[in-house]
Amino acid sequence: MYLTPFQERMLKGEFGWVYAKALEIIVKVGEALGSERLVEISHAHVSGVSYSNIGEPGLDFLRDFYREMPRFRVYTTINPGCVDYGMLSEVIDNKYLGKQALIDEALVGMGAKPVFTCIPYYHRPPLPGEHLAWGESGAVIFANSYFGAMTNREGGPLALASALTGFTYHHGLHELENRVARVLIKISPPIHNKPLSLAGLWIGENVRKVPMLEIKEKPLYEIKALLAAMAASGSHALAVLDGITPKGTYMTGIEETITLEFSDVEKYIGETPGRGETVLGYVGCPHTHPEELFILRRLLERYREPKRGRLLVTMPPEIASTYSSIVRLLLSRKVDIALGTCPVVSVLRKKYDLMLTNSGKAFFYMRKIHGLKVGIASLKEIVESIYT
Ligand code: F3S
Repeated sequence: MYLTPFQERMLKGEFGWVYAKALEIIVKVGEALGSERLVEISHAHVSGVSYSNIGEPGLDFLRDFYREMPRFRVYTTINPGCVDYGMLSEVIDNKYLGKQALIDEALVGMGAKPVFTCIPYYHRPPLPGEHLAWGESGAVIFANSYFGAMTNREGGPLALASALTGFTYHHGLHELENRVARVLIKISPPIHNKPLSLAGLWIGENVRKVPMLEIKEKPLYEIKALLAAMAASGSHALAVLDGITPKGTYMTGIEETITLEFSDVEKYIGETPGRGETVLGYVGCPHTHPEELFILRRLLERYREPKRGRLLVTMPPEIASTYSSIVRLLLSRKVDIALGTCPVVSVLRKKYDLMLTNSGKAFFYMRKIHGLKVGIASLKEIVESIYT
């Protein structure tokens, strides 16, 4: 691999072993993939930072780096941790508070912005064509597809290495010729009345090439759920959104057209609450966007308290403080609000019979990780199941 004189010096350890080790990781991965050079990045997003996911080995890895007191060379954000940073949630268990604090101290000490969210684009929307090194599959696919930025799906250690060095390997979605839409997917109107994450689960499972999606006037929060579901049930990191993905950040070479019917996605609706079952309603995977907060406020205004189960909403701490009046209304309706975390990367205090969510990604992981029955429903259906 060709390295610039500056990169050579970093690799030789002139700036310390941490930077040398970090660059070595990137170069090794790049060489294994056939990459010929590195590319500068402007934003790293580090996933795999929840103690309940990475445990002691991950904590030790981070603390070893932190002990040398390095600083991230580029703007760096971090994914949710395994604790509720608002300390109000009765659903999320804060049993790993001390361990998570050690992880956070290391990351923030190296220069990460303590956003604790999987929607880092809320804090810094990337520009079309900008090179990034992001972890977190739902954020990666959103950056590539919605903003036209260029990032591969990085694991936590690689994104961390890019944060330290400011580089990633030039390969995959950093190259325009790998951003070619091959399958045109038309989403039929009946699916438009349901959460779009249903379509995302189907596309993830059934389409291998880069899809181009025809989506009519869908709000950002639906697109976020659709893309995250695709990335969870498949390995997608880019979907061209017709009329949304910035021109010049992709090419088209359509080989096949698929019309997605409601009958294709119906099976993902999953479970519905049975009589007497305890229900955990869940909104906020990926983390709740202000658009969803406005809808929740309108839906919840007329109710006083839940009739069965609980509604859990997860969001970044900064959105909670910016929209504090909506958060107060939700709290007055006994909504359980957890900040900077989510049930997939944390531990739940209590077992519920069923989770009802608008998120295809939560549908995918909550069944696998927590062995929970899960159903997909719209925001309105979720609120009505809990409050009526
Ligand atoms: Fe975010 Fe947790 Fe879902 S990290 S994308 S809310 S699984």
